[in-house]
Amino acid sequence: TGVLNTLAQSIGKKYFGSATDNPEFTDTAYMAILESSEFGQITPGNSMKWDATEPEQNTFTFTQGDAVVSIAKESNKIVRGHNLVWQSQLPSWVSSGGFTAAELTSVIQNHISNVVGEKSVNAWDVVNEPFNSDGSYVSDVFYNTLGSDFIPIALTAARAADPNALLCINDYGIEGSGTKSTAMQNLVKTLKADGVPIDCIGFESHFILGEVPTDLQSNIEAFTALGVVVMITELDIRMTLPETAAQLEQQKTDYQTVVSACAAVDDCVGITVWDFTDKYSWVPSTFSGQGAACPYDDNLIKKPAFDGIVAGLS
Ligand code: G3I
Repeated sequence: TGVLNTLAQSIGKKYFGSATDNPEFTDTAYMAILESSEFGQITPGNSMKWDATEPEQNTFTFTQGDAVVSIAKESNKIVRGHNLVWQSQLPSWVSSGGFTAAELTSVIQNHISNVVGEKSVNAWDVVNEPFNSDGSYVSDVFYNTLGSDFIPIALTAARAADPNALLCINDYGIEGSGTKSTAMQNLVKTLKADGVPIDCIGFESHFILGEVPTDLQSNIEAFTALGVVVMITELDIRMTLPETAAQLEQQKTDYQTVVSACAAVDDCVGITVWDFTDKYSWVPSTFSGQGAACPYDDNLIKKPAFDGIVAGLS
Protein backbone atom coordinates (compact mmCIF):
# COMPACT_ATOMS: atom_id res chain seq x y z
CA THR A 1 0.00 0.00 0.00
CA GLY A 2 1.04 3.56 -0.67
CA VAL A 3 2.50 5.97 1.85
CA LEU A 4 2.53 9.45 0.27
CA ASN A 5 -1.14 10.38 0.61
CA THR A 6 -1.40 8.77 4.04
CA LEU A 7 1.63 10.67 5.30
CA ALA A 8 0.36 13.92 3.81
CA GLN A 9 -2.98 13.51 5.57
CA SER A 10 -1.27 12.55 8.83
CA ILE A 11 0.36 16.00 8.91
CA GLY A 12 -2.88 17.81 8.10
CA LYS A 13 -2.62 18.13 4.32
CA LYS A 14 -5.67 17.30 2.20
CA TYR A 15 -3.81 15.10 -0.27
CA PHE A 16 -0.68 14.07 -2.09
CA GLY A 17 -1.47 13.65 -5.78
CA SER A 18 -0.23 13.22 -9.33
CA ALA A 19 -1.04 14.50 -12.79
CA THR A 20 -2.05 11.88 -15.31
CA ASP A 21 -3.22 11.78 -18.92
CA ASN A 22 -5.65 9.63 -20.85
CA PRO A 23 -3.13 7.92 -23.18
CA GLU A 24 -1.50 6.47 -20.04
CA PHE A 25 -4.65 4.61 -19.00
CA THR A 26 -3.77 1.61 -21.17
CA ASP A 27 -0.49 1.08 -19.27
CA THR A 28 -1.52 -1.43 -16.63
CA ALA A 29 1.71 -1.23 -14.61
CA TYR A 30 1.36 2.57 -14.51
CA MET A 31 -2.31 2.35 -13.57
CA ALA A 32 -1.59 -0.01 -10.69
CA ILE A 33 0.47 2.75 -9.07
CA LEU A 34 -1.76 5.66 -10.10
CA GLU A 35 -4.86 3.97 -8.69
CA SER A 36 -3.13 2.78 -5.52
CA SER A 37 -3.41 4.55 -2.19
CA GLU A 38 -0.08 6.28 -2.93
CA PHE A 39 -2.10 9.18 -4.37
CA GLY A 40 -5.25 10.83 -3.02
CA GLN A 41 -5.71 13.29 -5.87
CA ILE A 42 -5.23 13.43 -9.65
CA THR A 43 -5.04 16.25 -12.18
CA PRO A 44 -5.76 15.64 -15.87
CA GLY A 45 -2.69 16.88 -17.74
CA ASN A 46 -4.64 17.81 -20.86
CA SER A 47 -8.18 16.46 -21.03
CA MET A 48 -10.07 19.28 -19.29
CA LYS A 49 -8.38 22.07 -21.26
CA TRP A 50 -10.37 24.26 -23.64
CA ASP A 51 -9.20 22.53 -26.85
CA ALA A 52 -10.31 19.20 -25.40
CA THR A 53 -13.64 20.32 -23.94
CA GLU A 54 -15.00 22.89 -26.42
CA PRO A 55 -13.14 22.33 -29.70
CA GLU A 56 -15.84 24.14 -31.62
CA GLN A 57 -17.97 26.90 -30.24
CA ASN A 58 -20.70 25.55 -27.98
CA THR A 59 -19.85 21.94 -28.84
CA PHE A 60 -18.71 20.29 -25.62
CA THR A 61 -16.88 16.99 -25.33
CA PHE A 62 -16.30 15.53 -21.88
CA THR A 63 -15.40 11.96 -22.75
CA GLN A 64 -11.74 12.27 -21.81
CA GLY A 65 -12.30 14.42 -18.75
CA ASP A 66 -15.03 12.06 -17.57
CA ALA A 67 -12.59 9.14 -17.90
CA VAL A 68 -10.28 10.89 -15.44
CA VAL A 69 -13.16 11.51 -13.05
CA SER A 70 -14.20 7.84 -13.28
CA ILE A 71 -10.73 6.67 -12.38
CA ALA A 72 -10.68 9.06 -9.44
CA LYS A 73 -14.07 7.85 -8.19
CA GLU A 74 -13.14 4.19 -8.53
CA SER A 75 -9.89 4.70 -6.67
CA ASN A 76 -11.18 7.11 -4.02
CA LYS A 77 -9.37 10.26 -5.11
CA ILE A 78 -10.26 13.88 -5.59
CA VAL A 79 -9.74 15.70 -8.90
CA ARG A 80 -8.19 19.06 -9.70
CA GLY A 81 -9.84 20.60 -12.72
CA HIS A 82 -7.16 21.95 -15.05
CA ASN A 83 -7.85 24.48 -16.55
CA LEU A 84 -10.53 26.93 -17.69
CA VAL A 85 -8.91 30.08 -19.09
CA TRP A 86 -5.39 29.88 -20.52
CA GLN A 87 -3.67 31.21 -23.61
CA SER A 88 -2.33 27.75 -24.56
CA GLN A 89 -4.24 24.77 -25.91
CA LEU A 90 -7.00 27.08 -27.01
CA PRO A 91 -8.99 26.06 -30.09
CA SER A 92 -8.42 28.47 -32.96
CA TRP A 93 -12.00 29.71 -32.84
CA VAL A 94 -11.07 31.32 -29.52
CA SER A 95 -7.43 32.25 -30.05
CA SER A 96 -8.03 33.92 -33.41
CA GLY A 97 -10.13 36.51 -31.60
CA GLY A 98 -12.29 39.02 -33.41
CA PHE A 99 -14.69 39.18 -30.48
CA THR A 100 -16.04 42.29 -28.87
CA ALA A 101 -15.56 42.49 -25.12
CA ALA A 102 -19.19 41.52 -24.59
CA GLU A 103 -18.89 38.55 -26.96
CA LEU A 104 -15.74 37.22 -25.34
CA THR A 105 -17.31 37.62 -21.89
CA SER A 106 -20.17 35.39 -23.06
CA VAL A 107 -17.74 32.92 -24.59
CA ILE A 108 -15.87 32.61 -21.26
CA GLN A 109 -19.10 32.36 -19.27
CA ASN A 110 -20.57 29.74 -21.58
CA HIS A 111 -17.37 27.67 -21.50
CA ILE A 112 -17.17 27.75 -17.73
CA SER A 113 -20.86 27.11 -17.07
CA ASN A 114 -20.71 24.03 -19.29
CA VAL A 115 -17.39 22.61 -18.11
CA VAL A 116 -17.64 23.31 -14.38
CA GLY A 117 -20.10 21.61 -12.09
CA GLU A 118 -18.78 18.09 -11.89
CA LYS A 119 -19.11 17.36 -8.21
CA SER A 120 -15.93 15.30 -8.12
CA VAL A 121 -13.77 18.26 -9.00
CA ASN A 122 -12.86 19.88 -5.71
CA ALA A 123 -10.60 22.65 -7.06
CA TRP A 124 -10.34 24.38 -10.44
CA ASP A 125 -7.46 26.21 -12.03
CA VAL A 126 -9.87 28.86 -13.26
CA VAL A 127 -7.13 31.09 -14.61
CA ASN A 128 -3.82 29.59 -15.70
CA GLU A 129 -0.53 31.45 -16.11
CA PRO A 130 -1.80 35.04 -16.51
CA PHE A 131 1.55 36.76 -15.91
CA ASN A 132 4.81 37.26 -17.74
CA SER A 133 8.00 37.02 -15.69
CA ASP A 134 8.12 40.82 -15.35
CA GLY A 135 4.68 40.84 -13.72
CA SER A 136 2.85 42.22 -16.76
CA TYR A 137 -0.13 40.34 -18.15
CA VAL A 138 0.39 37.86 -20.96
CA SER A 139 -0.80 39.41 -24.20
CA ASP A 140 -3.44 36.89 -25.30
CA VAL A 141 -6.96 37.05 -26.66
CA PHE A 142 -8.39 37.36 -23.13
CA TYR A 143 -6.18 40.23 -21.95
CA ASN A 144 -6.15 41.99 -25.30
CA THR A 145 -9.95 41.99 -25.49
CA LEU A 146 -10.96 42.42 -21.86
CA GLY A 147 -7.90 43.71 -20.00
CA SER A 148 -7.50 42.06 -16.63
CA ASP A 149 -11.31 41.91 -16.28
CA PHE A 150 -11.18 38.44 -17.80
CA ILE A 151 -9.99 37.21 -14.41
CA PRO A 152 -12.98 38.33 -12.28
CA ILE A 153 -15.30 37.34 -15.16
CA ALA A 154 -13.91 33.79 -15.10
CA LEU A 155 -13.83 33.44 -11.32
CA THR A 156 -17.38 34.74 -10.93
CA ALA A 157 -18.64 32.36 -13.62
CA ALA A 158 -16.89 29.44 -11.95
CA ARG A 159 -18.44 30.25 -8.57
CA ALA A 160 -21.88 30.38 -10.16
CA ALA A 161 -21.30 27.02 -11.84
CA ASP A 162 -20.00 25.27 -8.71
CA PRO A 163 -20.41 26.98 -5.34
CA ASN A 164 -18.39 24.26 -3.60
CA ALA A 165 -15.22 24.00 -5.66
CA LEU A 166 -12.11 25.87 -4.61
CA LEU A 167 -11.29 28.46 -7.27
CA CYS A 168 -7.60 28.97 -8.02
CA ILE A 169 -5.18 30.91 -10.14
CA ASN A 170 -2.20 28.75 -11.13
CA ASP A 171 1.20 29.91 -12.33
CA TYR A 172 4.92 29.17 -12.49
CA GLY A 173 7.75 31.46 -11.46
CA ILE A 174 5.79 32.66 -8.42
CA GLU A 175 7.29 30.07 -6.06
CA GLY A 176 10.03 32.37 -4.79
CA SER A 177 9.68 36.06 -3.94
CA GLY A 178 10.21 38.48 -6.78
CA THR A 179 8.41 40.54 -9.38
CA LYS A 180 6.06 37.83 -10.59
CA SER A 181 5.14 36.67 -7.09
CA THR A 182 4.46 40.27 -6.10
CA ALA A 183 2.25 40.76 -9.15
CA MET A 184 0.23 37.67 -8.18
CA GLN A 185 -0.07 38.85 -4.57
CA ASN A 186 -1.30 42.24 -5.79
CA LEU A 187 -3.87 40.49 -7.98
CA VAL A 188 -5.11 38.47 -4.99
CA LYS A 189 -5.42 41.68 -2.92
CA THR A 190 -7.39 43.40 -5.69
CA LEU A 191 -9.73 40.44 -6.19
CA LYS A 192 -10.35 40.19 -2.45
CA ALA A 193 -10.97 43.95 -2.17
CA ASP A 194 -13.46 43.73 -5.04
CA GLY A 195 -15.30 40.77 -3.54
CA VAL A 196 -14.33 38.42 -6.37
CA PRO A 197 -14.22 34.74 -5.38
CA ILE A 198 -10.62 33.55 -5.11
CA ASP A 199 -9.76 30.65 -2.81
CA CYS A 200 -6.35 29.40 -3.79
CA ILE A 201 -3.11 29.96 -5.62
CA GLY A 202 -1.33 27.11 -7.38
CA PHE A 203 2.45 27.13 -7.28
CA GLU A 204 3.30 24.98 -10.31
CA SER A 205 6.86 24.27 -9.08
CA HIS A 206 8.57 23.06 -12.25
CA PHE A 207 12.04 23.36 -10.77
CA ILE A 208 15.60 22.87 -12.01
CA LEU A 209 17.93 20.66 -9.98
CA GLY A 210 19.61 22.65 -7.19
CA GLU A 211 17.49 25.72 -7.88
CA VAL A 212 14.54 25.41 -5.51
CA PRO A 213 13.89 28.97 -4.25
CA THR A 214 15.37 29.30 -0.76
CA ASP A 215 12.45 31.47 0.33
CA LEU A 216 9.73 29.10 -0.88
CA GLN A 217 8.18 28.71 2.59
CA SER A 218 8.08 32.44 3.40
CA ASN A 219 6.66 33.11 -0.05
CA ILE A 220 3.90 30.54 0.54
CA GLU A 221 3.19 32.36 3.81
CA ALA A 222 3.03 35.71 1.99
CA PHE A 223 0.09 34.30 0.01
CA THR A 224 -1.67 32.53 2.87
CA ALA A 225 -1.52 35.82 4.82
CA LEU A 226 -3.79 37.27 2.13
CA GLY A 227 -6.52 34.74 2.90
CA VAL A 228 -5.99 32.18 0.15
CA VAL A 229 -4.70 28.64 0.47
CA VAL A 230 -1.74 27.45 -1.56
CA MET A 231 -1.30 24.17 -3.41
CA ILE A 232 1.88 22.86 -4.99
CA THR A 233 0.25 21.85 -8.28
CA GLU A 234 2.78 20.58 -10.85
CA LEU A 235 5.92 19.63 -8.98
CA ASP A 236 8.88 18.19 -10.89
CA ILE A 237 12.63 18.80 -10.72
CA ARG A 238 14.52 18.38 -13.97
CA MET A 239 18.19 17.73 -14.60
CA THR A 240 20.65 17.31 -17.45
CA LEU A 241 20.61 13.77 -18.87
CA PRO A 242 21.94 11.20 -18.43
CA GLU A 243 21.30 11.38 -14.72
CA THR A 244 24.08 10.52 -12.26
CA ALA A 245 23.82 9.13 -8.73
CA ALA A 246 24.94 12.51 -7.39
CA GLN A 247 22.19 14.29 -9.32
CA LEU A 248 19.59 11.87 -8.01
CA GLU A 249 20.76 12.56 -4.43
CA GLN A 250 20.50 16.32 -5.05
CA GLN A 251 17.03 15.71 -6.46
CA LYS A 252 16.06 13.84 -3.28
CA THR A 253 17.21 16.85 -1.22
CA ASP A 254 15.32 19.23 -3.50
CA TYR A 255 12.07 17.24 -3.31
CA GLN A 256 12.39 17.16 0.47
CA THR A 257 12.96 20.94 0.54
CA VAL A 258 9.80 21.64 -1.47
CA VAL A 259 7.60 19.19 0.42
CA SER A 260 8.90 20.41 3.80
CA ALA A 261 8.10 24.01 2.90
CA CYS A 262 4.47 23.10 2.17
CA ALA A 263 4.33 20.79 5.19
CA ALA A 264 5.38 23.67 7.47
CA VAL A 265 2.47 25.94 6.47
CA ASP A 266 -1.02 24.91 7.57
CA ASP A 267 -2.66 26.68 4.63
CA CYS A 268 -0.45 24.92 2.09
CA VAL A 269 -3.04 22.20 1.67
CA GLY A 270 -1.79 19.76 -0.96
CA ILE A 271 1.01 18.70 -3.26
CA THR A 272 0.73 17.27 -6.79
CA VAL A 273 3.59 15.96 -8.91
CA TRP A 274 3.36 16.57 -12.69
CA ASP A 275 3.07 12.87 -13.20
CA PHE A 276 4.85 10.49 -10.93
CA THR A 277 7.04 8.77 -13.51
CA ASP A 278 9.75 9.94 -15.93
CA LYS A 279 8.06 7.65 -18.45
CA TYR A 280 5.31 10.24 -18.97
CA SER A 281 7.01 13.48 -18.01
CA TRP A 282 6.48 16.52 -20.25
CA VAL A 283 10.09 17.65 -19.67
CA PRO A 284 12.20 15.82 -22.31
CA SER A 285 9.99 16.89 -25.19
CA THR A 286 10.12 20.53 -24.08
CA PHE A 287 13.69 20.90 -22.78
CA SER A 288 16.10 19.06 -25.02
CA GLY A 289 18.63 17.02 -23.03
CA GLN A 290 16.73 17.50 -19.76
CA GLY A 291 14.55 15.07 -17.86
CA ALA A 292 14.44 12.56 -15.00
CA ALA A 293 12.23 15.09 -13.22
CA CYS A 294 9.79 12.77 -11.44
CA PRO A 295 9.96 10.56 -8.32
CA TYR A 296 9.67 7.26 -10.25
CA ASP A 297 11.96 6.36 -13.14
CA ASP A 298 11.08 5.23 -16.68
CA ASN A 299 10.60 1.69 -15.39
CA LEU A 300 8.21 2.79 -12.66
CA ILE A 301 10.84 2.20 -9.97
CA LYS A 302 11.00 4.63 -7.05
CA LYS A 303 13.99 6.99 -7.16
CA PRO A 304 15.75 8.68 -4.22
CA ALA A 305 13.36 11.59 -4.85
CA PHE A 306 10.52 9.38 -3.54
CA ASP A 307 12.35 9.07 -0.21
CA GLY A 308 12.88 12.84 -0.24
CA ILE A 309 9.10 13.30 -0.45
CA VAL A 310 8.58 10.83 2.39
CA ALA A 311 11.14 12.69 4.51
CA GLY A 312 9.45 16.00 3.75
CA LEU A 313 6.08 14.62 4.86
CA SER A 314 7.45 13.04 8.04
O1 G3I B 1 -3.31 15.67 -28.83
C1 G3I B 1 -2.26 15.78 -29.79
C2 G3I B 1 -2.18 14.57 -30.66
O2 G3I B 1 -3.37 14.48 -31.41
C3 G3I B 1 -0.96 14.68 -31.57
O3 G3I B 1 -0.83 13.51 -32.31
C4 G3I B 1 0.29 14.89 -30.75
C5 G3I B 1 1.51 15.08 -31.64
O4 G3I B 1 2.50 15.85 -30.99
O5 G3I B 1 0.12 16.03 -29.96
C6 G3I B 1 -0.95 15.94 -29.05
O6 G3I B 1 -1.02 17.12 -28.29
C7 G3I B 1 -0.04 17.26 -27.28
C8 G3I B 1 -0.72 17.33 -25.93
O7 G3I B 1 0.22 17.59 -24.92
C9 G3I B 1 -1.46 16.04 -25.58
O8 G3I B 1 -0.55 14.98 -25.50
C10 G3I B 1 0.74 18.53 -27.55
O9 G3I B 1 1.51 18.40 -28.74
C11 G3I B 1 1.65 18.83 -26.39
O10 G3I B 1 2.21 20.14 -26.57
C12 G3I B 1 0.86 18.84 -25.12
O11 G3I B 1 1.76 19.09 -24.04
C13 G3I B 1 1.15 19.45 -22.82
C14 G3I B 1 1.53 20.87 -22.47
O12 G3I B 1 0.98 21.18 -21.20
C15 G3I B 1 1.03 21.85 -23.53
O13 G3I B 1 0.81 23.10 -23.05
C16 G3I B 1 1.69 18.50 -21.75
O14 G3I B 1 1.23 17.18 -22.03
C17 G3I B 1 1.20 18.94 -20.39
O15 G3I B 1 1.83 18.15 -19.39
C18 G3I B 1 1.56 20.41 -20.18
O16 G3I B 1 1.12 20.82 -18.92
C19 G3I B 1 1.38 22.18 -18.58
C20 G3I B 1 0.21 22.63 -17.74
O17 G3I B 1 -1.00 22.47 -18.42
C21 G3I B 1 0.38 24.10 -17.31
N1 G3I B 1 1.65 24.31 -16.66
C22 G3I B 1 2.82 23.85 -17.40
C23 G3I B 1 2.67 22.36 -17.77
C24 G3I B 1 3.91 21.85 -18.47
O18 G3I B 1 4.07 22.48 -19.71
